[in-house]
Amino acid sequence: KHTERESLYIVLNYAKTFFQDHMLKTDEGRGIGLSYFRERGFSDPTIAAFDLGYSPDQWDALLNDAQTKGYNPELLSKAGLTVTREESGKVFDRFRGRVMFPIHNVSGRVIAFGARILKVDPKAPKYLNSPETEAYHKSQVLYGIFQAKQTIRQEDVCYLTEGYTDVISLYQAGIKNVVASSGTSLTIEQIRLISRFTQNVTILYDGDAAGVKAALRGLDMVLEEGLNVSVATFPNGDDPDSYVRKVGAEAFKAYLSQHTQDFIAFKTAALLKDAGDNPFKRAEVITEIVGSITRIPDPIKRQVFFQSTARQLSVDEQTLISESNRLIRKQH
Ligand code: UTP
Ligand code: MN
Ligand code: MN
Ligand code: MN
Ligand code: MN
Repeated sequence: KHTERESLYIVLNYAKTFFQDHMLKTDEGRGIGLSYFRERGFSDPTIAAFDLGYSPDQWDALLNDAQTKGYNPELLSKAGLTVTREESGKVFDRFRGRVMFPIHNVSGRVIAFGARILKVDPKAPKYLNSPETEAYHKSQVLYGIFQAKQTIRQEDVCYLTEGYTDVISLYQAGIKNVVASSGTSLTIEQIRLISRFTQNVTILYDGDAAGVKAALRGLDMVLEEGLNVSVATFPNGDDPDSYVRKVGAEAFKAYLSQHTQDFIAFKTAALLKDAGDNPFKRAEVITEIVGSITRIPDPIKRQVFFQSTARQLSVDEQTLISESNRLIRKQH
């Protein structure tokens, strides 16, 4: 007898194969799903490495196929693969007519799905994701960690992106140490998952205001967990996926090596953009930087960052340290 979680893994793996087969072995799947991925520039080996698929545009294709193969409908529901309409009690497939991104846990088991609509439409979510289940706790998962973990260890750095396609496009470009928080804001558990493989994180969020805001929040969390953090930003409107497609793998790598900033340089630039010459606002920026440094648990690292901030922003190091002590007292 399997445990419930084990049964969920089995049915999720079956669903993964169903979506793959539907995409690769039917005319509908090849014509719609496979050509969608090809238009995005994904090669066959990349499609295989991420187990990408396509869900038939029908109400109950998965449900029917699963039942003929003897899977318990209750289990499909517990795996988040079907939904039950409240009024009628009718059961139907959750994912219909979407390209499918299986989400693997760190050991490679499929635990959930992200599903993208083919054409963006204001009336429907662009991505539909599995709900929380006994197999999937989204705050604890990073998309791509299974495919990335070995390279994260080797390169001793983890690139953190926003989305499924950022992970996949960078992987295809030969940058395999990439994960995404995928639609949730970064959590402590996700940072701890990264810390099993490296102490170094580089944030590669989308080049828009939301991406900068999320990077500012994310870097404080990474610092607080004791990891090192850098940030690279992309031209406005680009994300890592669109940018690597635009410039190619080699230029992308060169861009990263030229535009990766330590968290102080990134935060200073991001906040000073709005501060202009206003001295009060500039003072607030310095307090903000001190706030980030204060989160670092290691006192030696804190010391090093106070020194370099004092130099970069032409302020007295001792002033920064007393401000930090004031912030700590305020917390208690
Ligand atoms: P983005 O809107 O940046 O999408 O959301 P994207 O990854 O660039 O997708 P493409 O290139 O248009 O296909 C970033 C991530 O946020 C989650 C997804 O994980 C997505 O990859 N998201 C976004 C959702 O879960 N639901 C949504 O409706 C939108
Ligand atoms: Mn649980
Ligand atoms: Mn975005
Ligand atoms: Mn994108
Ligand atoms: Mn994006």
